[in-house]
Amino acid sequence: MNFLIKNGLIVNADSSFKSDILSVDGKISRIEKNIAVPDLESSIIDASDCLILPGGIDTHVHLHLPTPAGFSADDFATGSKAALAGGTTSFIDFVTPHRGQSIVEALRLRRQEAANSLCDVKLHVSPVEWTNQTEQEIIHCIKNEGIKSFKVYMAYQSTIGLRKEDIFKVMKVVGKHGGIVTMHCEMDEIIEKNRKQLLSQGKTAPKFHPLSRPNAVESEAVKNAIALAEKAECPLYIVHVSTHEALDHIHKAQSKRQPVYAETCPQYLLLDESLYDQPFDQACAYVMSPPLRKKEDREALWQAIADGIILTVGTDHCPFTLEQKRLGLHDFTKIPNGAGGVEHRMSLLYTYGVLQNRISLQKFVEITSTNAAKIIGWFPQKGIIQAGSNADLLVWDPNAKQKISAKTHHQNCDLNVYKGFEVQGLPKYTFISGTLKWNADDADLADFH
Ligand code: URP
Ligand code: ZN
Repeated sequence: MNFLIKNGLIVNADSSFKSDILSVDGKISRIEKNIAVPDLESSIIDASDCLILPGGIDTHVHLHLPTPAGFSADDFATGSKAALAGGTTSFIDFVTPHRGQSIVEALRLRRQEAANSLCDVKLHVSPVEWTNQTEQEIIHCIKNEGIKSFKVYMAYQSTIGLRKEDIFKVMKVVGKHGGIVTMHCEMDEIIEKNRKQLLSQGKTAPKFHPLSRPNAVESEAVKNAIALAEKAECPLYIVHVSTHEALDHIHKAQSKRQPVYAETCPQYLLLDESLYDQPFDQACAYVMSPPLRKKEDREALWQAIADGIILTVGTDHCPFTLEQKRLGLHDFTKIPNGAGGVEHRMSLLYTYGVLQNRISLQKFVEITSTNAAKIIGWFPQKGIIQAGSNADLLVWDPNAKQKISAKTHHQNCDLNVYKGFEVQGLPKYTFISGTLKWNADDADLADFH
């Protein structure tokens, strides 16, 4: 479908200006003032009161993730619909083989699942062990499969975590072949020791989850990850940074020009550990790793975004239903870790970032789209509004309001950690490669006329 958007305020990471946009055959064809109604069959959108934003890119989602509590509640179909409703047009999920399985085979299978997505998808590939195949498989992924990023876990040593010496081997090969290692930084040994101790004292409620993973669990891991990446000469992307101490290590490395990139998530910017001090059915929703932190951490994270230390905000979208969470009713270590948020990332950051003067409109676009596209290898097809780029566009209504609720959200889950949050600023229309994928006035994604 071709379309002309008239009179919107186009916002890119480096500028904003009023202009018209013509999209032809899925690409942005022209950006000029007063484009005449074209001589081709086009729809015309009057965006006088709207912003035009590059489609949101969520760097971190876990759809249909297998866990002992069953799969995370959103699959690629439901999760991507929720993403579109919130203005996210592309996201990056994960390939997590089980030990003994070929990485390349796991990638093939995960791509089949991702084919149900309504959004564009890239995949981070996770080596979960080091075998005599791993090096060749990583090289194959980079050279033949278009994979750029490899996610390793310092936590979860008993299932998918990698030992330090194996992380180093992954970093060496990824760095040498032009990829990037993304890292879940939490010190597994300390978590396991704390968990054992808490459980032995009868401390089984969700409020003990954060006590098993204090700030030092993350910051020590971040420090170690940075040192390893420096030695291995590998770019490092640290996911879901949640503590001010970790930011200090990241800032120090960046000041020495080491390629270290940091991501945080809306939950660490907007929620805090007091939420664990509730009865099980409420508190369990907030059991995620890393856990929610204190006000001073939240403030440091907002500041780090403003200062350019944190470059991206992903969601770590990994929802579980109350029934799934109740698996840990008598033992917090059995509560499946994670919460949803892919639908709300853009509106939360707009409301609590831009409208509360914590970040500029340009910074909003940078952290929700442009930087992710650059880091993950999607730029300039995505992440910017310019002639020649994909027409992944949001017609963003800055006045639209919503009160977030699990009853009305599109995520396939009966829990929502942002329930009760009021947001202002939502997509009116969401386009991917020139195709209308979301129309706020027609939630059935009916054809656009
Ligand atoms: O609690 C979380 N973050 N769950 C998703 C899996 C992970 O650790 O990233
Ligand atoms: Zn995650």
